[in-house]
Amino acid sequence: MNIKSIREDFPTLRGDDVPAYLDNACVTLKPDCVIEAITEYYTKYPGCGGRSVHSYGTQVSKKVSDSRRSLASFINAPSVNEVVFTKNATQSLNQIAHGMKWSEGDVVLTTDREHNSNLVPWLQLEQEQGIDHRVVPSNADNTFDLESFEEICSEVGNKLKLVSMSHVGNLDGVSTPIKEIAKVTHDHGALIAVDGAQSLPHMKVDVQDLDIDFIAFSIHKMCGPSGMGGLWGKAELLDDLRPIQSGGQTVVTSSYDSLQWAKPPARFEGGLGNFSGMIGAGAAIDYLEKIDMDAVHEHEVKLNKIMTSGVKDLNGIEIIGPEDAKLRGGICSLLLHELPVHDIAILLDEAAAVMVRSGLHCVHSWFNDRGHTDGSLRASAYMYNTEEEARLFSDTLEEIVNAFS
Ligand SMILES: Cc1ncc(COP(=O)(O)O)c(C=O)c1O
Repeated sequence: MNIKSIREDFPTLRGDDVPAYLDNACVTLKPDCVIEAITEYYTKYPGCGGRSVHSYGTQVSKKVSDSRRSLASFINAPSVNEVVFTKNATQSLNQIAHGMKWSEGDVVLTTDREHNSNLVPWLQLEQEQGIDHRVVPSNADNTFDLESFEEICSEVGNKLKLVSMSHVGNLDGVSTPIKEIAKVTHDHGALIAVDGAQSLPHMKVDVQDLDIDFIAFSIHKMCGPSGMGGLWGKAELLDDLRPIQSGGQTVVTSSYDSLQWAKPPARFEGGLGNFSGMIGAGAAIDYLEKIDMDAVHEHEVKLNKIMTSGVKDLNGIEIIGPEDAKLRGGICSLLLHELPVHDIAILLDEAAAVMVRSGLHCVHSWFNDRGHTDGSLRASAYMYNTEEEARLFSDTLEEIVNAFS
């Protein structure tokens, strides 16, 4: 992977005074090809896809189909019609949660390290429909406890309906063994949904090899436009899912007292679409498709090793997750006992233009349970970050921490 040439593709990484952008778990930077694809839609064919038959409309329809095809191939989906464009991973997870049919007492299992988007929908269903949401406790270092998961599955028995788990945690970068989890889940007759918001951008994800049922993801974390996400589901499961937004595009026909649902994905894409977003998403996926995702993962781990070794012995600092950076991908998330986390994040930016995230990262449950109510300082790397940037983060943090002590 040629980092120097990758950096040339990103307008915010060219020229002098380029910041060290290490907030990639939140949102990634955008390459020229994505910005150009979005601009091309608005300047050359700013029409409506899927409906209008004039030349603007047909160009949009074709571009959107191309994007969907790229996405399907990127995750090795068996059919392009199993890929739904959404506005973010949150909408995708809500479509699963509120689209499935539930009976009182049905059990949904998550990990204890979920983003609110893979927790709150289940809590809502617990309140509104009486499902039983249970949490599988992780090992002390936040790695997945497969044994305890198997025990809980056996205990729950035929009440187990869905296992919904993040592939990689945004809290700490720790991966869950989804393939093994899928096997256990299916052995218990349940379905598995994966929150792939932090895995798809950083590693090869093959939905058939993992043998999962659904995956939700954020295209804005994959070099794509903001306001874009995706949902993949097995065809027969999508066929059975109730759309959470019905209206234009979601039906083949309707009368005053009846309707005929459209087939997926149209059934789940109600209303006029974010066409520039879908087209930009295709450009982002085509861009990623040319990059070796295994090399991306390795590069991020290399940077994380630099960050980790630079900060692990600093006064009052504790790494969330295992000390070994290899187990945390590109995420270095730190508890700063006694230090003001948001102030430190501002100082990193002001002193050295190092941009990181501070706070609870929408994983309130984990922090609240452990009494770390200020959250953490999280640096998250991507393919375009450099070793110098990783060192700049740890060196500047060291200076700041020393100045506070
Ligand atoms: C693990 C995880 N799940 C879900 C989400 C929500 O993603 P989105 O903002 O696309 O809804 C995020 C966003 O940070 C995330 O990191």
